Amino acid sequence: MADDTTDTKSSNQMWGGRFASGPDAIMEEINASIGFDKKLFAQDIRGSIAHATMLAHQGIISAEDKDKIVHGLNTILSEIESGNFEFSRQLEDIHMNVEARLATLIGPAAGRLHTARSRNDQVALDFRLWVKEELQKTEQMLTGLIAAFLDRAEEHAESVMPGFTHLQTAQPVTFGHHCMAYVEMFGRDRARVRHAIEHLDESPIGAAALAGTGYPIDRHMTAKALGFREPTRNSIDTVSDRDFAIEFLSIAAIAGMHLSRLAEEIVIWSTSQFGFVRLSDAFSTGSSIMPQKKNPDAAELVRAKTGRINGSLVALLTIMKGLPLAYSKDMQEDKEQVFDAAESLELAIAAMTGMVRDMTVNTARMKAAAGSGYSTATDLADWLVREAGLPFRDAHHVTGRAVALAESKGCDLSELPLSELQAIHSDITDKVYDVLTVEASVASRKSFGGTAPSEVRRQIAFWRARN
Ligand code: ARG
Repeated sequence: MADDTTDTKSSNQMWGGRFASGPDAIMEEINASIGFDKKLFAQDIRGSIAHATMLAHQGIISAEDKDKIVHGLNTILSEIESGNFEFSRQLEDIHMNVEARLATLIGPAAGRLHTARSRNDQVALDFRLWVKEELQKTEQMLTGLIAAFLDRAEEHAESVMPGFTHLQTAQPVTFGHHCMAYVEMFGRDRARVRHAIEHLDESPIGAAALAGTGYPIDRHMTAKALGFREPTRNSIDTVSDRDFAIEFLSIAAIAGMHLSRLAEEIVIWSTSQFGFVRLSDAFSTGSSIMPQKKNPDAAELVRAKTGRINGSLVALLTIMKGLPLAYSKDMQEDKEQVFDAAESLELAIAAMTGMVRDMTVNTARMKAAAGSGYSTATDLADWLVREAGLPFRDAHHVTGRAVALAESKGCDLSELPLSELQAIHSDITDKVYDVLTVEASVASRKSFGGTAPSEVRRQIAFWRARN
């Protein structure tokens, strides 16, 4: 195997026929992608085996050459997997590294592998296979996160907490209901992942440089061998398309945004001021100076990883936006963005799944907070509409006066004496106290998708059947 010493002036190793001298050192540095695209080695070898098998089946290469090629490629696979492969920057990328090693191992037959293909369709294939596997992994990880939320939602279908709008106490909800909101979000992310897998499930190999090939290849055969639904339909589009990578990044960015919102809530909930949850030791850190501290570092880092993922999406959109059809070398910059975002997304989902499973929920704190801030004011207004026949606007006004009175006395709505409530509106009876508790408030919200425990359990059953 060639090593990494750079002899810039020797004849070019890869296309020596046309080139009298090798590349300048800077040229080699800007041009080489092996530093990151070696990650595609397994996909590259799988693709080459399928291609060689098809070439032999079609009589384009001999069965003996195919056997040598397949055997050599399998040897290279185990060399790379066991760390016994020396990657060379002079050989530019994973495709040339594998092919050069194949020539050393099996001799001239190696030269027949690149018949009827180009690195343009080869890289499109390798990268698609990689993104497809990553999407499948993401789908599974999201299923795990959804399962964690379903368990917490079931456990806390009746636990009352304040619901917020503008981060101000709005109306009581259940923690189970809040958990199910995240199930909906991550369920949508997973649906997007499934859709993206369907979108990219077409095989690029055989598009060749951009125009297809004159050899009698069978693209349906390679598509099937590589687990794709069918071959792509247009060879120009095939080598110039990176939508599958951009879709992955878009999905990652949206899921990252959801994970970041969850991270933000966990940061807020775990403050001593809120005290709604306590993170496990496994998912928090201490302070080197303040012994009392337990910091939600993992949640904070999930929030930050989202910034990286967004950056990758914008980077690849920008890389692609000015490119004429078909392939341009700019596209080589697609991989690092996707690899980095994939790593961030995996870590973020795994960390969040762990935090959600492990955190201790302080239901007493949640309940106390749920009752503060006059969170049942809407229930009083609704009672006036229902029991005293007031128009909602008038009921809103009467309730506003009751809230002002309670505020001036420094007490809760449920602590106002009946006589004082009746002074505000004479139709109020002692029955009103039944709706002023947070439990009654929550139980009454039985509308489809509402926060009543019975409704939350229905939502859980819906998702259990689909997870
Ligand atoms: N390393 C290249 C990439 O990642 C492979 C394709 C090169 N094709 C070419 N015509 N130079 O995009």
